[in-house]
Amino acid sequence: MTDSKRKILVTSALPYANGSIHLGHLMEYIQTDIWVRFQKQRGHQCSYVCADDTHGTAIMLKAEQQGIPPTELIAKVSEEHQRDFASFQIEFDNYHSTHSEENKVLSEQIYLRNREQGNIATREISQFFDPEKSLFLADRFIIGTCPKCKAEDQYGDNCEVCSATYSPTDLIDPKSAISGATPVEKDSLHYFFDLPRFEPMLKEWIQAGHLQTQVANKLSEWFESGLKQWDISRDAPYFGFEIPDAPGKYFYVWLDAPVGYMASFKNLCDKEQGLEFDDYWDQDSKAELYHFIGKDIVYFHSLFWPALLQGAGYRTPSAIFVHGFLTVNGQKMSKSRGTFINAESYMEHLNPVYLRYYFAAKLTSRVDDLDLNLEDFAQRVNSDLVGKVVNIASRCAGFIKKKFQNTLSSEVSEPQLYEDFIAAGDVIADYYEQREYSKAVREIMALADRANQYIDEQKPWVLAKEEGREQAVQDCCSTGINLFKIIMVYLKPIVPSMAADVEQFLNVEPFTWDSSKDLLIGHKINKFKPLLTRVESDKIEALQETSKTQVVEASKPEPETAAVSGPLADEPIADTIEFEDFAKIDLRVAKIIAAENVKKADKLLQLTLDLGGETKNIFAGIKSAYQAEDLVGRLTVVVANLAPRKMRFGVSEGMVVAAGPGGKDIWLLSPDSGAQPGMRIK
Ligand code: 2FM
Ligand code: ZN
Repeated sequence: MTDSKRKILVTSALPYANGSIHLGHLMEYIQTDIWVRFQKQRGHQCSYVCADDTHGTAIMLKAEQQGIPPTELIAKVSEEHQRDFASFQIEFDNYHSTHSEENKVLSEQIYLRNREQGNIATREISQFFDPEKSLFLADRFIIGTCPKCKAEDQYGDNCEVCSATYSPTDLIDPKSAISGATPVEKDSLHYFFDLPRFEPMLKEWIQAGHLQTQVANKLSEWFESGLKQWDISRDAPYFGFEIPDAPGKYFYVWLDAPVGYMASFKNLCDKEQGLEFDDYWDQDSKAELYHFIGKDIVYFHSLFWPALLQGAGYRTPSAIFVHGFLTVNGQKMSKSRGTFINAESYMEHLNPVYLRYYFAAKLTSRVDDLDLNLEDFAQRVNSDLVGKVVNIASRCAGFIKKKFQNTLSSEVSEPQLYEDFIAAGDVIADYYEQREYSKAVREIMALADRANQYIDEQKPWVLAKEEGREQAVQDCCSTGINLFKIIMVYLKPIVPSMAADVEQFLNVEPFTWDSSKDLLIGHKINKFKPLLTRVESDKIEALQETSKTQVVEASKPEPETAAVSGPLADEPIADTIEFEDFAKIDLRVAKIIAAENVKKADKLLQLTLDLGGETKNIFAGIKSAYQAEDLVGRLTVVVANLAPRKMRFGVSEGMVVAAGPGGKDIWLLSPDSGAQPGMRIK
């Protein structure tokens, strides 16, 4: 091993305690679990903690519907979640709850320290209130008629029919989605976290390489439209923690959720000797801290969370690892197609090893969505795991048992082959470290192909029939078994239960990463038992049938989160493009014929542009460098064929291209460039 023992703390997003674990969740937990197992196998001190995310209105209402206290609901769900995770071999070092004493203490402390630093503001806001339930209503809990297209039953923040965005007070005939009562407007004092104060710190943090490039690019766009103070309070009744010195006010669920990472780790430290909370969370901690999350919750983890931590005098994360969404057969998971598969139904029909392998074979370090194509899934698992890997052992084990009392040769016969297999370990380890699992799997399967090719060439089944060739049979099969062992050492983070069966078969101690280097010479192995059976297509069909019929209660996000988590979830994140993609971009010179400030947007100007006859309305984040009035008459370059984009302030019909580091330095086209409006840039 090249690097010395590292201290690493790893988390996956905390699942909501209001529904079941499904394949979409599992992709993230499997991705994280593989990484953690790899780190442990390399000998590092790595802790993987998680917890149920238990607070908020949705959970409070669900418990009420069931006629039980929220604490009873969350205890029941926690048990189910932990059962599901264990069945997919996801091995947490600790699984806790955000409704815990540790989380209360830490959330209060983080809040109070931020308050001392002047990072908390208060002001009255007016909101819809359900007079029957005595409850303030989040936008998603209000329905009514769209003020624009008059479609009925639309949510309080946007219309699903005409896509208009509005505030709930604009709805015609608004009703509470909870009681059906007509809501009334009511004022109440809210507490805000002053995120804009952290803009310089966050910009620096983001540029320091803690995020994937795709994510960092997306964040720059958010900076352009300006950071806003974050409302961290909710009025009673609310299932959560009461805010210190603010009776009747509770922390919004997203305030104490990430603190749940710390709380779960604190709970672990209190149970486990040799783990010190401060070693991992002190401002100058040398330990590494990684959060695996989906692209829908980037805003919380890359802006609010580092800022809250910094404001409270804690360290910030070493990195946030963001993954895309899971699709099944190329589409969003759907109950009617039988592709909304929850963990429990999967386990009724199929082996979890298949899914771990398939996800690993497709996962990369990028934010792209991953498709689980059920046909490809069966084909890939059968051909790789069963057809290539297990096949090596089953081809060799029979001869070793029958002819050599399960004892391997006492000499190495293929040193070069071993050397190549051992050397491949460094590249494979690098791929794991970088979360490029699909590349690691490709390398491992190339080794499996080589091992099979070696056995094909040696033909032990022919040698076994020839007189005086016993030694050759033992040597060739012992080599096969040793190569199989090395492959299983490398596959262990992905298929740990299968690796454990192989350790038993080979009669060896649990594999570490360096076990690849220990050859089994003159070693007695155990009886070979089938390690994995093929995926049968009728099982997949049965699973889809189950998924169509059962009541799926997937955990749903807290309704309030939509407003901030939406953008990254819905839009593709910028990625490397091919030349053909670049060639599609229509860059034109445009003349600014009008420019205005945009209300409530610190960084945006609304520009009217002349593209040589055609006029476009474009919002551009260049206010820090230009006064609106100084821009009239200036020339700039625009992406003329960008699809119109609905922004909070109106529709933007293109994009202004400008260069520079930002702030005062954003350069448009030089006034004496000689360019003419409408001119195409090539
Ligand atoms: O989106 C979700 O499912 C949230 N429950 C994730 C919380 S992650 C962390 F911040 F707690
Ligand atoms: Zn509408």
